[in-house]
Amino acid sequence: MGPLRLVLLLAPTTVLGAITVYHVQQPLTAAPSASATATSIPPAYNPSTLVPPAVPTDQVMTTIPVALQNSGTVGMSIPQRGSFIGFSIEMSVTNQVLGKNSSLIQVPFLNLMANIQQRAGSVMVRVGGNTQESAKMVDSLPNGRILEKDLQNVSGTTQTPPLDFTADLLYLMRNISDFVNVHWFLGTPWFVTTPFDTDIVTAADNILGDYLLGMQAGNEPDMYVLHGHRNDSYGPYDYFGEFGDFLTQIGGGADPTGRVKSVLVGPNIASFAWTLEEVWDTGFVDTYSENLAFLAGEKYPNDNCGATFGAGDVVNPQDVLPNYLTHTRHQALLEPYLNSTMYAQTKNKPFLMFETNTASCGGFLGISDAFVAALWGIDYALLMAHSNFSGAMFHLGGQNVYYNPFTAPPTNQSTYHQWSVGPLYYSALIMAEAMGPSNTTQVLNLPIDGISEFTPIYGIYESGVPKRVAIVNYINDPSGANDVHAIITLANPDGTQTTPSSVKVKYLAASSVVQKGNYTWAGQTFGGFFESDGRPMGDEDVQTVQCAAGSCNVTVPAPGFALVFLTDDALSESENGGAPSVTFSTTIKPKGRNTVTVDPSLLATSNGNRFADHELAGTSKQQKPSGAAAQGVSALLAVVLGGVVGALLALPGFGRV
Ligand SMILES: *[C@@H]1O[C@H](CO)[C@@H](O)[C@H](O)[C@H]1NC(C)=O
Ligand SMILES: *[C@@H]1O[C@H](CO)[C@@H](O)[C@H](O)[C@H]1NC(C)=O
Ligand SMILES: *[C@@H]1O[C@H](CO)[C@@H](O)[C@H](O)[C@H]1NC(C)=O
Ligand SMILES: *[C@@H]1O[C@H](CO)[C@@H](O)[C@H](O)[C@H]1NC(C)=O
Ligand SMILES: *[C@@H]1O[C@H](CO)[C@@H](O)[C@H](O)[C@H]1NC(C)=O
Ligand SMILES: *[C@@H]1O[C@H](CO)[C@@H](O)[C@H](O)[C@H]1NC(C)=O
Ligand SMILES: *[C@@H]1O[C@H](CO)[C@@H](O)[C@H](O)[C@H]1NC(C)=O
Ligand SMILES: *[C@@H]1O[C@H](CO)[C@@H](O)[C@H](O)[C@H]1NC(C)=O
Ligand SMILES: *[C@@H]1O[C@H](CO)[C@@H](O)[C@H](O)[C@H]1NC(C)=O
Ligand SMILES: *[C@@H]1O[C@H](CO)[C@@H](O)[C@H](O)[C@H]1NC(C)=O
Repeated sequence: MGPLRLVLLLAPTTVLGAITVYHVQQPLTAAPSASATATSIPPAYNPSTLVPPAVPTDQVMTTIPVALQNSGTVGMSIPQRGSFIGFSIEMSVTNQVLGKNSSLIQVPFLNLMANIQQRAGSVMVRVGGNTQESAKMVDSLPNGRILEKDLQNVSGTTQTPPLDFTADLLYLMRNISDFVNVHWFLGTPWFVTTPFDTDIVTAADNILGDYLLGMQAGNEPDMYVLHGHRNDSYGPYDYFGEFGDFLTQIGGGADPTGRVKSVLVGPNIASFAWTLEEVWDTGFVDTYSENLAFLAGEKYPNDNCGATFGAGDVVNPQDVLPNYLTHTRHQALLEPYLNSTMYAQTKNKPFLMFETNTASCGGFLGISDAFVAALWGIDYALLMAHSNFSGAMFHLGGQNVYYNPFTAPPTNQSTYHQWSVGPLYYSALIMAEAMGPSNTTQVLNLPIDGISEFTPIYGIYESGVPKRVAIVNYINDPSGANDVHAIITLANPDGTQTTPSSVKVKYLAASSVVQKGNYTWAGQTFGGFFESDGRPMGDEDVQTVQCAAGSCNVTVPAPGFALVFLTDDALSESENGGAPSVTFSTTIKPKGRNTVTVDPSLLATSNGNRFADHELAGTSKQQKPSGAAAQGVSALLAVVLGGVVGALLALPGFGRV
């Protein structure tokens, strides 16, 4: 489709041709003052931190035997994919996160997805959330925008604004899939059913084609009564009936290829007013078996709606911090789903956690945006895999929330601020490595006698053979007294020891559970606020642990996480088995290099911005195409494929290189 795809096919090792401008030049008439930056910090960039919880008073087992068997292990999950963790992007922020329109794609977003693609092969991204329900497709919007919010007319607990969008949003999604292997979920509006507004169904069918993984039929319908979208008698049978009405309606031509009617996702309930069992008991899955590609629920372990929207009690984040530092909370959250994930297996349907994060209504300051969330996210993802979910999506919104896996700068600052990568992006990246691309990966929350709730350990198997071990240490104890020593052994069922002579270990590290930004994964980081272009920075540092006397002693700091690779193949498969490494580099490339003038003293105070570093780091500066400067383009995309530096690419209006 896109020029990139074409050249990739024809000449994979040579110079590539394609271009995306990720933002047009916006003259900065008035730069924000340093004091304004300091006093009115949006939640997504709030540097405040909490106090780490005390070290547990009870003695915790820190020397933990991890005895793995080469076959015959019982209790493992169903086979899982490397793309297990995806992202759920609130529809109203897609023009910040994905791009301004179909020809202005956000380069950092491409990089963030490419990192996961390299490990997992593909990435699942859902565009939707509360804003999908009142979203209306229109022919055009003022100033060529692809979406617009009606902030005068918000509704519901989350004060969701009605949204207008154009088909170009879907072209933007489709164009992204030409660069990185992103497959999409969308949602169709469900508030009004007589008739349904099916414009997005038709557009998704026509524009996304095979890149449409699924279409969500209703978002948290069991909360419709609470939010005033249905009358009090609305229950699972009513939803069942609406699902049928929807199918009848799209059968009337709205779904030209019939794709959408075979990739629906339901019931997407929050298990708030209904249980999943109540939905299953309507006969939903059997009746609509041909239509349902995925079963799904949505669950957050807590909410911050009190503080954010005045809905309910205000939660003090410091009080709930310990809840995010224990494995048992995850078990309690997921336990009610186990019956449904077993049920889904009997119906041969994957079951997804369609939307989740640390807390709904934006998350908690100091938790959702700190190292604690990275550890929480890894443990949660692994436990969902163990619990036979087939995937989960971490939700993200805009500047006004704490919990974003990644945040695009405000559009009027994007000429000088870079992206901020949050803790849950690290969890997602690590989960991609933990699963690897084989599609045969099985996960087991290891049932080790005496293990504490602060130190969960997972065995990760391929075709029944142990390949990796994942170890979380939630304890915050810089003294070292609570470092975990996992004593790993491998054996055949007959008892023959097969422990390797050494293992490779990658650590996720930070100085404390409350640290914000600058976490390192095997020595590499995405930095702090405004410091990332989506590519990991720094040199990779993979540790080798020598095994002795038939066991490998892997130390995991308190706090920290370690992914242990039992063979070198398990490591290379995890790091590069998904797809060739592709990175997209941005180079600030203003007209005459200095059109966007930013006072250096301002940059020095604007949360660690590193404009100059990134400008120098770009690959395209020395290779700019003639004419580019004259067009006043402020950022260019270059592509590096398999280590070969691509030439700079043509701009729309320049022809293709
Ligand atoms: C993106 O989509 C539009 C509409 O289909 C197309 O004209 C354009 O060439 C695409 N842009 C890129 C960069 O592929
Ligand atoms: C960016 O937009 C916000 C919200 O509209 C505004 O408050 C701020 O002053 C703008 N900043 C610049 C640099 O224009
Ligand atoms: C995207 O926006 C830019 C700048 O506003 C404009 O030049 C370009 O034509 C737009 N592309 C599409 C496909 O609308
Ligand atoms: C708010 O939205 C409702 C439903 O879409 C519409 O009927 C009403 O006119 C809107 N109100 C305003 C002030 O736009
Ligand atoms: C509730 O909604 C249902 C379905 O739309 C409708 O049949 C019923 O009359 C409504 N009940 C009341 C009390 O409004
Ligand atoms: C499990 O789900 C099935 C199907 O809905 C239901 O019949 C059964 O009662 C459930 N079991 C439990 C323990 O909830
Ligand atoms: C996951 O599914 C497998 C295969 O059906 C089963 O053996 C295992 O007990 C399930 N795990 C959980 C936690 O329900
Ligand atoms: C894993 O599954 C995906 C999706 O079906 C497929 O594209 C990929 O080739 C599979 N990978 C392997 C190693 O079989
Ligand atoms: C991250 O590290 C850099 C370089 O060491 C430092 O300048 C920056 O202040 C740190 N950011 C945070 C949020 O700690
Ligand atoms: C594991 O390594 C740690 C740190 O090197 C050491 O203190 C501990 O004694 C070792 N444990 C075993 C059982 O070898």
